[in-house]
Amino acid sequence: MKKYEQSFPDGFLWGGAVSAHQLEGAYKQDGKGMSIPDYMPMDLTTLKRNVVEKLELDPNKYYPSHEAIDHYNRYKEDLSLFAEMGFKTLRTSIHWARIFPKGDELEPNEAGLKHYDDYFDELLKYGIEPIVTLSHYETPAHITEEYGGWDNRKVIELFERYAKTVLERYKDKVKYWITFNQINDITFIPSMAAGLVFKEGENRYQRTYQAAHHRFVASSLAVKAGREINPNMKIGMMVYSNPVYPYTCNPDDVLLAKQREREQVYFFSDVQLRGEYPAFSKRFFREHNINLEIMDGDLELLKEYTADYLTFSYYMSSAASTNTELPTTLGNVVFGVKNPHLKASDWGWQIDPKGLRIALNDYYDRYQKPIIITENGLGAVDLVNGSGEIMDDYRIDYLKRHIEQMKEAINDGVNLIGYTMWGPIDIVSASTGEMKKRYGFIYVDKDNDGNGTLERKRKKSFYWYKKVIETNGNDLSNN
Ligand code: BG6
Repeated sequence: MKKYEQSFPDGFLWGGAVSAHQLEGAYKQDGKGMSIPDYMPMDLTTLKRNVVEKLELDPNKYYPSHEAIDHYNRYKEDLSLFAEMGFKTLRTSIHWARIFPKGDELEPNEAGLKHYDDYFDELLKYGIEPIVTLSHYETPAHITEEYGGWDNRKVIELFERYAKTVLERYKDKVKYWITFNQINDITFIPSMAAGLVFKEGENRYQRTYQAAHHRFVASSLAVKAGREINPNMKIGMMVYSNPVYPYTCNPDDVLLAKQREREQVYFFSDVQLRGEYPAFSKRFFREHNINLEIMDGDLELLKEYTADYLTFSYYMSSAASTNTELPTTLGNVVFGVKNPHLKASDWGWQIDPKGLRIALNDYYDRYQKPIIITENGLGAVDLVNGSGEIMDDYRIDYLKRHIEQMKEAINDGVNLIGYTMWGPIDIVSASTGEMKKRYGFIYVDKDNDGNGTLERKRKKSFYWYKKVIETNGNDLSNN
């Protein structure tokens, strides 16, 4: 019997994923306003920079989003490199503050709209299907200054105006949309995700979950608008995934692992895919003194306008134990107990290809909607050798092992329709702001302090991924 009955389906969307604020730079160009990430300095302490306390620039600090890799001005070169690898799709975001610089204007900024027109045309020229995230942490800063962030209901209206503007403008160019990047990371990085800045002694849970409710409503309004504007559009949602394993078979560990998955992920995906708050949320709200303000019509809207497909990022799994003495491990936004069966990346993220198969099966069992893996990759230190090459075999190995598990999941029956690895060109890290942590197939000459020529170079993995796409995932060998 063949090991694999099925391989990747025809038309599988192979590609890469990036976000506007991590690569565009040009932070004031063509009328763009300041957004939350523009106030986040580089800080190597994981997740410290994501806690925005003041919307002020400190002249002694370095703000990586301001120039990033200057993709805004160099996108033609970068997209031609993606095309050379044979990309079928590119997931990127529209920087909200380019379209509505302050977020509350009545009319959009034409220069910003024009930029993305040209950008999508360039992608389509190569036959690359854009997958566009409406909000990948790029809330205009003025929304926090004036309205306090997403826990203010007014922000729904501002987002809806922005969403309708871009859905209408790009209705013939963009078919696949995602409303919010990792909608569940609001509980871990509320400033970055939803523009929330807390005061001492506030009930953070209350503000965070109110903001989450507003984002659910805003997402459903975007789905509604999209269906009205072009019924062929597919509007998806996204979570960060984190399969949580019980550290032991002690029922306490098993229960804790299940609770983590429910609270961290399923709470969010259930609302967006099943269209209602899960039963377990009632107890969670009660125990955390959360009283959601839900307006007439909100729940009906969530029920009617669920997302068309599910997307998620996958970097690692974690483990849960009631034993608080055990060593812990880091992750993109979540932390857990160290799993002794897994190795970790240089940044301490536990590498677990099988966890990807587990996540795919869990989501498909629960929702039966098409799935795109919208982020997966290895952040590593890449060195240019004496011959000017970057031999990133470790990255090839990481991606290969994850793609093998995707194949297994397809054989398990999962309807997986795409894979956009993170980030195909070296970009600014979201958690620290550094450049040293590289994910790309394309090297960018820039260091953590902002020095470098910004020259682009193909790494060894560039040629490997090209072959993977050419063979529709059938040849994953590294030679
Ligand atoms: C994801 C985010 O959680 O992790 C991306 O959506 C981010 O924006 C990615 O870049 C990897 O994290 P980091 O901190 O290594 O850039």
